[in-house]
Amino acid sequence: MISFLIFGPPGSGKGTQSVKLAEKYNLIHLSTGDMLRAEITAGTELGKKMSLIMSKGELVPDEVVIEMIAFKIDNSKGSAGFLFDGFPRTVAQTIALENMLNGRGMKIDSMLVLDVDHDELVKRLIARAELSGRPDDKDPSVIENRIDVYKSKTEPIINYCREKGIYQPVNGMGTINDIFKRLSDSMNKLV
Ligand code: AP5
Repeated sequence: MISFLIFGPPGSGKGTQSVKLAEKYNLIHLSTGDMLRAEITAGTELGKKMSLIMSKGELVPDEVVIEMIAFKIDNSKGSAGFLFDGFPRTVAQTIALENMLNGRGMKIDSMLVLDVDHDELVKRLIARAELSGRPDDKDPSVIENRIDVYKSKTEPIINYCREKGIYQPVNGMGTINDIFKRLSDSMNKLV
């Protein structure tokens, strides 16, 4: 089985492109953001604890998302592989994911990084705030904090993956279809 990371700052289009890529390549789309929001919607204890952290644009603890992903990997069958969206977000999560995959005879095959200008990220998230109801989209200062958290805690994964030869930058500006074509061109080299 093959494993891809789709990577990039908030608003770079990870979720939008993941849905299309998962369908095209028969991959299981695993989004930790979606899993956490499902916990909040279901009113679970975990959801209640995580919702304040998420509404501020901070990262939830590594162990919470690592446990969620491990459960999903072990309970997902019948696909060509996995597409991880919004996970990993720290180097510690990356190492945990590598260990999980290696222990099951897999590895991270590629990290596709969407490169999008700062102003375009903010524009997309503010536009989404009208419809999404996501508290972390509503306040421009929270959007800026999410981008800062990405730079300080998540971007270091790029160097980690570059050293492993799996880093693939992709221009994330333009139409959804243009970006999908670029991502598909990168993925076609691996599948
Ligand atoms: P998460 O849900 O992962 O949110 P995010 O990284 O902030 O990403 P977004 O969903 O905002 O953006 P995206 O890149 O997926 O873009 P999208 O396709 O939606 O995480 C939320 C929170 O959960 C985190 O802040 C953290 O608290 C917690 N969390 C999650 N995972 C965690 C982890 N592993 N560790 C710790 N904490 C974790 O597009 C955005 C908008 O733009 C949409 O409206 C879309 O329609 C539009 N759009 C997309 N592409 C284009 C385009 N080409 N042109 C115009 N508009 C476009």
